[in-house]
Amino acid sequence: MLSLDTNPAVAEPALCGTTHVAVTGATKTFAVLDGAPVHALGPVTFDLRQGEFFSVVGPSGCGKSTLLDLVAGLSSPTEGHIHFEGAEVRGQVPEGVAVVFQEDASFPWLTVFDNAAFGARRNGLRESEVKERVDHALAFMGLAGFAKSYPAQLSGGMRQRVCIARAMVLRPRLMLLDEPFGALDQQTRLLMGEEMLKLWRETGSTVMLITHSIDEAVLLSDRIGTMSARPGTFIDIVETGWGRERGSETAMDPRYGALQSQIWGMLRNESLKALGLRV
Ligand SMILES: Nc1ncnc2c1ncn2[C@@H]1O[C@H](COP(=O)(O)OP(=O)(O)OP(=O)(O)O)[C@@H](O)[C@H]1O
Ligand SMILES: [Mg+2]
Repeated sequence: MLSLDTNPAVAEPALCGTTHVAVTGATKTFAVLDGAPVHALGPVTFDLRQGEFFSVVGPSGCGKSTLLDLVAGLSSPTEGHIHFEGAEVRGQVPEGVAVVFQEDASFPWLTVFDNAAFGARRNGLRESEVKERVDHALAFMGLAGFAKSYPAQLSGGMRQRVCIARAMVLRPRLMLLDEPFGALDQQTRLLMGEEMLKLWRETGSTVMLITHSIDEAVLLSDRIGTMSARPGTFIDIVETGWGRERGSETAMDPRYGALQSQIWGMLRNESLKALGLRV
């Protein structure tokens, strides 16, 4: 086993500490037709630091996607505020933010190339620049040979990679990912995680990743926020301390197992509550 002193994964701190996104006292309550309103989230207060890789874990239905939608500007908080780069986010996705959704959001009527190009074209980017970015993103995502295919001709995991490529083409300063690897098998998931880290390092963007995999969260993140059962709030935010040049060797670090146990300890109770097995 590698010692802490010699492991390159812990050699260099990854964070620079400036606030990139500030979530302040945010709550979300959904009105439900013919039923009691659903208090889905919060109050939640936390920051995403410039350039960090932040993961969110929490029991199913606790409000993770609701939180991501608020940060993305896809819905507005019932109470509280979200700021991205100092400006309040409300009702629309700010320039510089890209979202990858939990479900496959590829457009079935467009080729893989046109799917990946969609956002960049809508932003009015020159076609030569679009082509350069799309070619790079498709190659990065292992889809170079599928540019002319349609989503129906791809596997579920490949379709999800098309959606990640579409986000990547936008060169976002903030990337919001809602369980993007959920449809992938374990091996592909691990490889995609490594690719995600490479992408994060290359672009310097801030990443917020929602995942139900504790392993994935521990392996990839600078910080991990663990949420309570609905209405979700952060029970704890743990700093991993990994260096920026990390990879799969992080799993050999003695702290890897300790972090997994710590997060599972918190999550287990909340998951039991969410299932109605503990109050
Ligand atoms: N548009 C909506 N209208 C009413 N209730 C909603 C709406 N969207 C979400 N909810 C409710 O809010 C709660 C949180 O939902 P959310 O999708 O954020 O959970 P989640 O943590 O992402 O779950 P999962 O891990 O299963 O994806 C759930 O109880 C859900 O039923
Ligand atoms: Mg969700």
